[in-house]
Amino acid sequence: MATTETPIRLPPGPKGTPLFGLAFQVLRDPLATLVRLARQYGDIVCIRVFKQYRILLNLPEYIEQVSIVQHAKFHKSTLTKDVTERLLGQGLLISEGDFWRRQRRLAQPAFHRSRIVEYGATMVECADKHSSAWRDGEVRDMAQEMMAMTLDIAVRTLFGTTLSGQAANVGHSLGFLMRYSLRKARSPLKVPESWPTPNNRRAQRETEFLDSLVYRIIAERQKEEASGAPNPHNDLLAMLMSAMDEDGTQMTPKQLRDETMTLFLAGHETTALTLSWTWYLLGENPQAEARLYEELREVLGGRAPQVADLERLPYLKAVISEVLRLYPAAYTIARTSIAPCTIGGYDFPVDTTFVMSQWVMHRDARYFDDPEAFRPERWLDGLENRLPAGAYFPFGDGPRRCIGQGFALLELGLVVARVAQHFRFKLVRGHPVVPEPLVTLRAKYGIKMTIHARP
Ligand code: HEM
Repeated sequence: MATTETPIRLPPGPKGTPLFGLAFQVLRDPLATLVRLARQYGDIVCIRVFKQYRILLNLPEYIEQVSIVQHAKFHKSTLTKDVTERLLGQGLLISEGDFWRRQRRLAQPAFHRSRIVEYGATMVECADKHSSAWRDGEVRDMAQEMMAMTLDIAVRTLFGTTLSGQAANVGHSLGFLMRYSLRKARSPLKVPESWPTPNNRRAQRETEFLDSLVYRIIAERQKEEASGAPNPHNDLLAMLMSAMDEDGTQMTPKQLRDETMTLFLAGHETTALTLSWTWYLLGENPQAEARLYEELREVLGGRAPQVADLERLPYLKAVISEVLRLYPAAYTIARTSIAPCTIGGYDFPVDTTFVMSQWVMHRDARYFDDPEAFRPERWLDGLENRLPAGAYFPFGDGPRRCIGQGFALLELGLVVARVAQHFRFKLVRGHPVVPEPLVTLRAKYGIKMTIHARP
């Protein structure tokens, strides 16, 4: 995030130390620092980190300006790109301009509701498969459990069953590469990737492993297609491979590789985290948990949930909206200006980085009564439609809004319903639950919970 050219008039903000600005506070506790600055300095805040300025936007109208109204003046921030480029190449999450527009157009049909509902049964099956190993009274880390469950769902919906046995290996590789890239991007000491350090060598191996897996599947599919055999595949990869632009062109193997890796990464971890925060919040709020169970019992009896049931489960939907409010897996979005812009009456030059934080906005008492409290009820009377754009944006907004939103809400709804029918969870006494804002919002020490099977 870099603003090297100082604008004429800067928004208010803390001075910090002459050399580092606010770097240490931001690095030590980014969430608390952002909230404190927003409450102290108001709707637009200038934060200096080392020699660079970042502009924190805390008013829905300003967030709407950047995400929607003036979106063409912004690109994703360099930090986002630095962290993810190695893994995601030119995938949807970080590509820009005409290339991004074409890729989004090609990928969009794969996420049409009529397509994604076909994955509902797979999602419920995976929930059943993983939870069948849980025993009454045992303690498990729900963060790990949910990661394994959504990884399986991601593998099966992206690649069909082709990769099922490899899910855990893929998870380990992705996990390592994300930690490696984040550490590198945040470290002031830049060790070139070509140096043969143990970490660089491992990053190389893990990238090669993932690449070879994905390229192998693409090649096998292309061979099948060339042989003229009917296409038996019904997964996201098959949709991306058959997508054709208006000029008759299709994605190259490299583009397919970048997009599948992007969907894999953007999709499974965010959903896993949201699920694990759900079990934590329900465990801490037994009244909400009981009301959810009652709704599931009334609407479903004992049978497995299906996609069509979700609209008859308003409390379930409210629980998920409330979890995404309090623990948004994507807790900030950053954009860098590629053209001069005016926000909140201030003029900013090219290369100004703006930060919009779901964590900050979703806890703003101007838009949410008693903002720190977990109260799913708040969503039951149409709150979402009354909120101004930019007050609640767990999936982002504007043209770069999450392409997987429908997919994620389907997965969250079906998995929470299915698991809550059979289990409730209680946090192990004394276990510290500490939000850790890495690329996504994780729980630093996991979420250790005791499993209670329902009779
Ligand atoms: C609870 C789950 C999820 C959350 C909270 C979430 C959040 C987000 C957010 C905030 C953005 C916008 C980022 C920005 O503007 O810089 C985004 C973009 C994206 N998400 Fe998600 N996401 C979730 C699930 C998924 C799933 C399941 C998929 C795919 C299967 C997915 C794929 C993507 C992609 C490809 C983009 C980039 C879209 C573009 O720029 O065109 N996400 N997501």
